Amino acid sequence: MSAVVVIGTQWGDEGKGKIVDYLAEQADVIVRYQGGNNAGHTVVVNGSEFKLHLLPSGILYKGKTCVVGNGVVIDPAVMIKEMNGMEEKGIDTAGLRVSNRAHVIMPYHRLLDEVEEISRADQKIGTTKRGIGPCYMDKNARSGIRMVDLLDEEEFCAKLKRNLEAKNHLLKAVYGTNGFDFESMKQEYLAYADKLRPYVVDTSAVLNESMKAGQKILFEGAQATQLDLDHGTYPYVTSSHPIAGGACIGAGVGPTKISKVIGVVKAYTTRVGEGPFPTELLDATGDLIREEGHEYGTTTGRPRRCGWLDAVVVRYAGYVSGLDYMAITRLDILDKLPTLKLCVAYKYKGEIINEFPASLKVLDQVEPVYEEMPGWQEPTSHIRSYEELPLNARRYLERLSAVADIAIGIVSVGPGREQTIILHDMF
Ligand code: IMP
Repeated sequence: MSAVVVIGTQWGDEGKGKIVDYLAEQADVIVRYQGGNNAGHTVVVNGSEFKLHLLPSGILYKGKTCVVGNGVVIDPAVMIKEMNGMEEKGIDTAGLRVSNRAHVIMPYHRLLDEVEEISRADQKIGTTKRGIGPCYMDKNARSGIRMVDLLDEEEFCAKLKRNLEAKNHLLKAVYGTNGFDFESMKQEYLAYADKLRPYVVDTSAVLNESMKAGQKILFEGAQATQLDLDHGTYPYVTSSHPIAGGACIGAGVGPTKISKVIGVVKAYTTRVGEGPFPTELLDATGDLIREEGHEYGTTTGRPRRCGWLDAVVVRYAGYVSGLDYMAITRLDILDKLPTLKLCVAYKYKGEIINEFPASLKVLDQVEPVYEEMPGWQEPTSHIRSYEELPLNARRYLERLSAVADIAIGIVSVGPGREQTIILHDMF
């Protein structure tokens, strides 16, 4: 039995999809444990690009079991669309297993996501407007609708009626918008239930039985550490737990079953949405990184904010997820830069601080302490072994590893599966 968790260490979009896809080849079961279709993975297989928002990337491999765990919030329309898209491309979805305890995103969640953002005005979070936050709110308020409810017409209708009464009142009285019609929503969702029914099971049981049988399990985190509800830059976070511990809760497996945790680190930093970002570059270097790295959101198409690599952020991710290794991605995007800066600490009111501050007021005012390093200014995307990387590239990575106190496990130099340098076995 071997169970590996892969998480993002920064603000998301670190290239987890590619690392997960690479490791998925070795795994028997691939699991998503939190978030929903706010995530976006782009995976390139044999030159074909696949964009996935909800289904685990392992779906691209034949014969694997792909689990959508209880911690995920499911927009059934999106799930069915992705399943149909895969089937059209000849990719079999028979291995999909969806948790009966996962919560369902409803149309009022999407609308509430929108109107709540508008009402936040200049305090807006910059959500993906997919209804993620409002769905988790209902889950925590204990009024949500789970997959198991959706499959039971009587239970579903009772819960939908209760929810619609409350949501329609909220939408009309507080936000001044129209409410929703019970009958049409009922019909729409019961049709989704029919399509999804064959896939819905107790996924905790599936995973525990797979482990007993000695199978290899890969847990793929969506979003990242700084977007974690507890450990991220609150309130500019998502409403779930992308850190490694989230895998236990969101998949129904015990912490004793996890054998390794890998943190994906982009060789620079990006962020979408609002909130402080100490190493942000609002200059030509930031623009260069954005253009070289095509840093525009997979889910929303928004331009991402770009900045230098922040080792304080990476070390913090190491603490909260107990990282064994870093998988460093997109090193090749930095190939052209004459010099690089690595943030190794922060300065606040003249004093050095080494820990990531909880207060956003402090974080907003910190000054990054940089170590400037020479770039390598040569292409790296053809390189297949660590030793062949330019000396300055290795120095950059090794300095990151020393400051963050996490070993280097994987270095990625391009989007293709073959552009992956492995320093340690992960399973
Ligand atoms: P929500 O998850 O749609 O509620 O958005 C909350 C915050 O998380 C916003 O700042 C989003 O931009 C950010 N976010 C959500 N999903 C992702 C992702 O997959 N990558 C990067 N940022 C994300």
